[in-house]
Amino acid sequence: MQIYKVGGAVRDRLLGRPVTDIDWVVVGASTEEMIAQGFKPVGADFPVFLHPRSGEEYALARTERKSGRGYGGFVFHASPDVTLEQDLIRRDLTINAMAEDAEGEVIDPYGGRADLEARVLRHVSPAFAEDPLRVLRVARFAARYAPLGFQVADDTLALMRTLAESGELEALTAERSWKEISRALMEARPDVFISTLRRCGALEKLLPEVDALLHVNGDHVLNVLQRCADEQTDLPIRWASLLRNVADLPGCNIDTIDTLNRRGKVPRDCQELSRLVGEFHGPAAAATALPPADLLDILQRFDVYRRPQRLEDFLQVEHINAQALGSNYPQTAYLRGATKAVRDVQPAALMAKGFKGAALGEALSAARLEALETFKREYTQ
Ligand code: CTP
Repeated sequence: MQIYKVGGAVRDRLLGRPVTDIDWVVVGASTEEMIAQGFKPVGADFPVFLHPRSGEEYALARTERKSGRGYGGFVFHASPDVTLEQDLIRRDLTINAMAEDAEGEVIDPYGGRADLEARVLRHVSPAFAEDPLRVLRVARFAARYAPLGFQVADDTLALMRTLAESGELEALTAERSWKEISRALMEARPDVFISTLRRCGALEKLLPEVDALLHVNGDHVLNVLQRCADEQTDLPIRWASLLRNVADLPGCNIDTIDTLNRRGKVPRDCQELSRLVGEFHGPAAAATALPPADLLDILQRFDVYRRPQRLEDFLQVEHINAQALGSNYPQTAYLRGATKAVRDVQPAALMAKGFKGAALGEALSAARLEALETFKREYTQ
C-alpha cells in the first residue's frame, strides 16, 4: 500500500500557512489489511480509519457517485484498484486535490499548484456537484484566503449558481450548513463569505432574510462584518451583527430572527445575542430619552444582574455598527452607568429591613427604579 498526505495539509504547507490537521489517503489496501495493521475503522459512511498511535485519519482511496438527493445519497467504491488520481478528481477544489508522498514530493494531476500561484479557487471536475455543501466550502475558502488575493474562478461560480438553482442546498442538514457558516464567519473576511454566497444565488436559499437585508443595505452589512473580523470578535458578535436589522425589514419582526435561528439550529449564545440586538438596538439608541421604568425593563431583559456580559456584547455590536456608519455609540457610557446603578441595589439591605418573598421582589424593583431615576438626573445635569 502507498500512503499520501492529502487535502488541506498539502495546500497550507505550499501556502506557508500552519497545518493543523493532516488527512491521509491509502492506495492499494483493503479494509481487512488496514485492520490487520492496527488501524481502527471509524465512520459509518466511508472507509476511514484512525492511526493506532497518531489518531490521524486515513481514508482508503475511493471514487464516489451520487445516487440521490442530499448528503445520504452517495454510493462509494473503495477498493485496492482505485488510483490516487481517481481519488483526487472527486475532490472539491484543485488546491485541495494535491497529494504528497513520503519523500515530500507533491502529486498534482489537476493543476492545484498553478491555481495556488494564480490565487484561484477552481473546481476539479463536474464531480464538484456531488456535494452541495461545497458551495459553502468555496465561499468559506474565499473568505479565508481573500487577504492573499484568492478569487473564485468564473466557471466555478457558475457551477455554484447551478447548484443553488437546483434546490440542492435545501437538502443540506442544518448542522452541516451551520458548521460551514460558523467557521466562515470566523475567517479573516466573513464579508467575502456572504458576498460570494450572494453572487451565486446561494444566500437567497440558505439565509433568505440576510439576502433581503443585503438588497436594502448590503454595503453596510458587509462593512460591519469586516470590522467584526478586524476587531477579532467572537462568533455571537458576528452573528448578531449580521442579523441586526433583519427584524426591521418590511413584513419582518423579532419572530423572523427566532425562526431563522431555530431553522438553522444556531447555538444558544448566538441565538440569544442576535435576538437581544434585533429587539433592543432601537430602544437602546434612544436610551437617554427613555423613562427610567422602560430602561429598567430593558436591563431586566438583558438580565444584567446575573449576566452582565450580555450587555457588553450588545454594546460591542452597537459600537461596531456605529463605526461602520462613521460615528460612535455614545449610549455606551449611559447604559453602563444605568447597569451599575441597578446592580448596586443590594437585596441584602432590603432583607435586613424585613422584606421577603413577593414583597422583597417589589421593594427591589422600586429601589432599582429609584436608583435609575437618580442616575438619570445626575447624568443629565
Ligand atoms: N473534501 C471535498 N469535499 C468536501 C469535503 C472535503 O472534496 N465536501 C476534500 C478536499 O480535498 C479537502 C479534504 O477533503 O481538502 C479534507 O477536507 P476537510 O478536512 O474538511 O478540509 P480541509 O481542506 O483540510 O480544510 P480546512 O483547513 O478548512 O480544514
